Amino acid sequence: MSRWMFLVVLLLGLGLPAINGHGQEPRKVDILMKKKLVHAQKVLEGVSTQNFKMIETNAEELIEISKAAEWTVMKTPQYEIYSNDFRRSAQSLAENARKKNIDGAALNYVELTLTCVKCHKHVRETRMTRLD
Ligand code: HEC
Repeated sequence: MSRWMFLVVLLLGLGLPAINGHGQEPRKVDILMKKKLVHAQKVLEGVSTQNFKMIETNAEELIEISKAAEWTVMKTPQYEIYSNDFRRSAQSLAENARKKNIDGAALNYVELTLTCVKCHKHVRETRMTRLD
């Protein structure tokens, strides 16, 4: 490993938890948020292989996750809008999977992933302005 790579690895290892503001102990919210990624990836697998059962069960998991108390990380109106969009996309996913509508499910998957990006952007921006 070159000296530069070593430095980059070191900075990433040290810097990321500090940027996120996370401690060492995994918090319940982190576990919840990571589960979200796993189920979203499974939905993609289901959509791309036309496995409707896989889409349905993982969409239902996503709905449950969005109902957990830990889901509400911040109480801004925008956060609530994105939460609702997320849940609605997951519900449409489950419905379209039951109807075996692959085009509908594919569209719902795209909608769902857009809410991931939008909400994370909102969270980042809200936290940055709070630091000021
Ligand atoms: C309504 C808001 C919202 C939506 C929608 C959302 N997230 Fe998140 N996500 C969060 C918040 C808030 C955090 C950070 C939690 C914290 O650090 O307090 C987070 C963190 C994460 C993390 C990092 C977990 C960690 O350990 O740092 C992953 C991965 C993630 N989300 C994946 C996704 C995926 C994939 C989607 C879409 C399928 C998604 N999220 C949709 C709010 C959202």
